[in-house]
Amino acid sequence: MRWGFESKEDTNFTYDLTPNNLRYMACFIALVLKKDYSTVWKYIEEASQDQTLRDYISTKVSQSDLGRWSDTEVRFGRRLGWYVFARIMKPKLVVETGVDKGHGAVLLCSALLRNRAEGFEGQYYGTDINPKAGYLLDGIYKEVGAILYGDSIESLSNLKTPIDLFINDSDHSMDYEYQEYLTIRNHLHAQSIILSDNAEACPALLNFSLETGRQFLFFREEPKNHWYPGGGIGISFSS
Ligand SMILES: C[S@@+](CC[C@H](N)C(=O)[O-])C[C@H]1O[C@@H](n2cnc3c(N)ncnc32)[C@H](O)[C@@H]1O
Repeated sequence: MRWGFESKEDTNFTYDLTPNNLRYMACFIALVLKKDYSTVWKYIEEASQDQTLRDYISTKVSQSDLGRWSDTEVRFGRRLGWYVFARIMKPKLVVETGVDKGHGAVLLCSALLRNRAEGFEGQYYGTDINPKAGYLLDGIYKEVGAILYGDSIESLSNLKTPIDLFINDSDHSMDYEYQEYLTIRNHLHAQSIILSDNAEACPALLNFSLETGRQFLFFREEPKNHWYPGGGIGISFSS
């Protein structure tokens, strides 16, 4: 009921995860990246407590015309997991297909900025077919990130460099998602990781992983104070 009256995010929901669900997510990522739980947890806290980023997003929402479809309260949900991958892997190239307002984009770019401050350069590309997508990606965050407007598969076809971290979150039909993986297949290397934002609904990444000899796992999120049962993170990696 409260969500119905208070939230303006009625298509791409935002919410926090329950405390235990965050801990489950940390264990899941620790296993995949072969890191200690405490290392993963440190990065979840780093993103959760980044007041500069939170203030930036709230201000952007309040000041932008497009902000009428966003809440000023910042809730990243499973995207905190994406952040951890970007912080631990220190990727040179992160690609996210489907940017929408840019919650994932700006969070991932905040990770790349912190990596840069530690001496690891990295670039983010988001793809979106909507020319108005990505209004949250601005300011300092834009120093490491850009949006490629147009159909995602077309944009991916034009990429020339290896992709370290790939996040699928665009057209959520089975065929389209699978085609994205085929399109980037030759840009993957042994350490590349693919995350799917659609694995709770469709096995495209599972199928791709089995066909290409990659491992697959799925983490299911548990939203806090939200009616939505939650999505998750599908992950494809080489062991
Ligand atoms: C679920 S939203 C992305 C949410 C975003 N990743 C985030 O962190 O909030 C899906 C986005 O995919 C975009 N999209 C849908 N079909 C697409 C296509 N064929 N090519 C590129 N973008 C597409 C939509 O415009 C929409 O902005």
